[in-house]
Amino acid sequence: MLPLLELFFCMIFLSHTEIIISHGKESCSSSCGSLQNIRYPFHLRGDPAKCGGSDFELNCESNNAILDIQKNKFYVKDISYHESIITLVDVGMPHDNCSLPVRSINWDDFKQPFFFGFYHQRQATFINCSIKVDSPSYEIVPCLSKNNSTIYVIFQAFSVGDIPVNCYVLCTILMTENLQLSIFDQLKQGFRLDWFIPLINSSPDAIRYCAEESGPPANFGYIFVALWPILSEIEFLSCLYGQQYNHSKLTFYAAVVIIFVLDITLAMLGTNMLSFNL
Ligand SMILES: *[C@@H]1O[C@H](CO)[C@@H](O)[C@H](O)[C@H]1NC(C)=O
Ligand SMILES: *[C@@H]1O[C@H](CO)[C@@H](O)[C@H](O)[C@H]1NC(C)=O
Ligand SMILES: *[C@@H]1O[C@H](CO)[C@@H](O)[C@H](O)[C@H]1NC(C)=O
Ligand SMILES: *[C@@H]1O[C@H](CO)[C@@H](O)[C@H](O)[C@H]1NC(C)=O
Repeated sequence: MLPLLELFFCMIFLSHTEIIISHGKESCSSSCGSLQNIRYPFHLRGDPAKCGGSDFELNCESNNAILDIQKNKFYVKDISYHESIITLVDVGMPHDNCSLPVRSINWDDFKQPFFFGFYHQRQATFINCSIKVDSPSYEIVPCLSKNNSTIYVIFQAFSVGDIPVNCYVLCTILMTENLQLSIFDQLKQGFRLDWFIPLINSSPDAIRYCAEESGPPANFGYIFVALWPILSEIEFLSCLYGQQYNHSKLTFYAAVVIIFVLDITLAMLGTNMLSFNL
């Protein structure tokens, strides 16, 4: 009876060790298509947790890096780590020279850790008017205008304000100003968001953050399903170890001790119940 149990725990221990070793070897992806400079906190879906949090996860689809923010999807054109700026284009942005964006993107569609900075950037609102409007801030879009409907684009900071009664809003989109280009080429260049790495400066923050980061694994076969509590523990501890703030080492060692004691207790309970049954 005992040798059998010993063998059982030995197997668990060995796979445990093997996972730790292979886990340590896993590296973060660095490119997707033309986006060559992917690094922390940005990473590709499927990379280990140490490569960055879920807010910075890119999905590499047919050589395009795609970032999801609040249910909207964007192509990632560029990441500046130095300026903490990411350049995005809505995945629905038409490629031709005279089509409106398929949906509106507003400056307040973003949440931490991303935000829209108005420096050198604008919101463009397209309106459709059944009359001609004479206003210096209304720019005609000739290729979309027809006999009785004139399309205008208005550039504004926060809000378009009142529009004439004979007009209605088609869409609002964010863009980076580039006066050399046509309005449609500017739209295709996308816009820029500032990003920052969320500050974790307390033990509860770190524990909450790491607990969220170490959910059930997505890439393991059914053999590992039984082991996922152990994998999560490792994931959690390695995340905690990676947090850079004053008390992190103490929290890390405390977590190691608590998880170790819990595991031993559970293992002993399991052994007792097993011997009781046998
Ligand atoms: C858009 O216009 C540019 C020149 O302004 C041209 O080179 C390009 O081929 C056009 N693209 C499409 C899809 O029509
Ligand atoms: C503008 O509105 C008119 C009348 O409702 C419509 O026929 C036309 O297609 C609209 N133009 C655009 C670009 O949506
Ligand atoms: C408006 O359309 C009619 C016919 O569709 C055309 O004869 C006329 O020249 C157009 N007017 C303008 C200002 O384009
Ligand atoms: C434009 O509007 C005028 C008067 O509102 C109307 O007579 C004309 O048929 C319209 N033209 C088109 C092409 O819709």
